[in-house]
Amino acid sequence: MMTSAQLRQSFLDFFAEKQHAIVPSSSLLPDAPNLLFTNAGMNQFVPIFLGETACPYSPPRAADTQKCIRAGGKHNDLEDVGLDTYHHTFFEMLGNWSFGNYFKQEAIAWAWELVVGRWGFPAQRLYATVYAPDRSKHDPAEFDQEAYDAWAALFTKAGLDPKIHIVSGNKQDNFWMMGDTGPCGPCSELHVDLTADGDTNGALVNQGDARCIEIWNLVFIQYNANGDGTYDPLPARHVDTGMGFERVCSIIQGTKNFTDFKNAQISNYHTDVFAPIFAKIEKLCGLKYCRTLPVSGLTRLRGQERVDVAFRVLADHIRALSCAIADGILPGNDDRNYVLRRILRRAVLWGRSLNLHRPFFHQLAPVVADTLGDVFPELRKNAALIV
Ligand code: ALA
Repeated sequence: MMTSAQLRQSFLDFFAEKQHAIVPSSSLLPDAPNLLFTNAGMNQFVPIFLGETACPYSPPRAADTQKCIRAGGKHNDLEDVGLDTYHHTFFEMLGNWSFGNYFKQEAIAWAWELVVGRWGFPAQRLYATVYAPDRSKHDPAEFDQEAYDAWAALFTKAGLDPKIHIVSGNKQDNFWMMGDTGPCGPCSELHVDLTADGDTNGALVNQGDARCIEIWNLVFIQYNANGDGTYDPLPARHVDTGMGFERVCSIIQGTKNFTDFKNAQISNYHTDVFAPIFAKIEKLCGLKYCRTLPVSGLTRLRGQERVDVAFRVLADHIRALSCAIADGILPGNDDRNYVLRRILRRAVLWGRSLNLHRPFFHQLAPVVADTLGDVFPELRKNAALIV
């Protein structure tokens, strides 16, 4: 079974084999003026997509793991954090990019090769979504026949029915935009059926159900959104993908390499990404994490449920704060700094549910530096500032 470090490396190695330049994550402080935080791997490449900067890689391909924060702004998961198994304020997005080079065929074929061929995801549990505009809502562009055909060939070859394994979605689910403006285009996502028998036939795709989650989004960047609902075609067509690193870890580790879905407890928090942070929280508060999930929402939390939400909130939030501060974004009174302050307050408040009333939160920061410092060295460099 792969550790999270091996999984990350395996993704990067795969795309290095496909002639991608492996580049560092960009800072969480975005270059784009209309973003609070870096919210996707593609942010650092926006000027290349728009044709403002020449692509420095030859061939024009790149891959990386990108630090992302989705709190405040268009993509905002803050209020979900702690209540479920797979939403975070901070997460790593594994991505590969083509800058006017390969397009849908290769992007889809390589996604399949990595996920099914190399990692061993069972093909019968996979569902691909493709873009189908809702005309009544004036969604842009056309049905993505090219993506459909590419997935259909792969599912058919695996002996599976494309009509069941390919699900279409309109602009809301299958047209990706970084914000109100900027590079965008139709997208195609891979979802995994995590139920005991894996026999849902796609019924849970995009239903907000943790038993069927998206792991990889393949965006085919073809337009620039102007912000007034109009879209200009870009001079070249690009690929922008984003894989939820912690989610893939949760599936591989939670099912013991796909051998046991029946007894699997699949949660991003039950991986070696979070284990050291949870161990530290247990030590600080003397309580045990028991993996319960709230049955009836935030307002009626009782006993162990409340304790377990608190563990997840603290573990998530210390990663967001540590990584943001390491990139020079400090909690403060306005703008993105205020979002961090809210995250910090939310963490400290949830600490009360663990009977942590004296300052404690900073004691989690060194654990983040230990676990992520090899990948993001700024965590070690700025360790004292973060504490
Ligand atoms: N930019 C795409 C996303 O964030 C890949 O989902």
